Amino acid sequence: MGVGWGRAAGGSRPNSMAGPGRRRPLPLRVLVPVLALALAVSPLRSPDRDPPVRLFTEEDLARYSGKEEDQPIYLAVKGVVFDVTSGKEFYGRGAPYNALTGKDSTRGVAKMSLDPADLTHDTTGLTTEELKSLDDIFTNVYKAKYPIVGYTSRRILNEDGSPNQNFKPEDQPHFNIRNEF
Ligand code: HEM
Repeated sequence: MGVGWGRAAGGSRPNSMAGPGRRRPLPLRVLVPVLALALAVSPLRSPDRDPPVRLFTEEDLARYSGKEEDQPIYLAVKGVVFDVTSGKEFYGRGAPYNALTGKDSTRGVAKMSLDPADLTHDTTGLTTEELKSLDDIFTNVYKAKYPIVGYTSRRILNEDGSPNQNFKPEDQPHFNIRNEF
């Protein structure tokens, strides 16, 4: 953009001291407001717009199950915590999928099941089709529609508290590494 403007300025004043083909630096009175504007709309400012993600224990997540009217509604799929408040008609109190909220419901989503026994992070024994369906809903519903607000502690840490080497937050499209750590 700066280069284009420089050319335009030179071209509009063919008799100026700059001479043909020579570019003059943009004066500060132009450069400063332009840079200020660029910074104001730049993705570098996203930390202001997207609150940082956080880690959720099971107890933390259980607080966001839509029981109270003005409380945000969260659910986790594959250890990623989504804010599904905008889908209140699905997830709010008394809504059809309220049972999925306040927990990691990976298995239920994979099996399309609301059976309480399936409302868990555990994917043991799921079929190839169920795993495919899980990935499809994860990508095309949750990641596409809802902001990520954090990760379950189970996704980040192993049972013994050691870091889970398979945790790759940068895989998440909403993830902006400057926001997170
Ligand atoms: C008779 C059974 C069911 C019917 C007729 C049904 C119908 C629907 C419909 C029409 C939608 C799309 C709504 C929209 O985008 O406007 C939807 C979304 C969804 N359904 Fe079902 N459903 C059924 C059972 C289930 C079950 C058992 C689960 C268990 C996990 C489930 C999970 C979901 C999820 C996760 C969504 C996406 C909601 C969102 O956009 O956040 N559904 N369902």
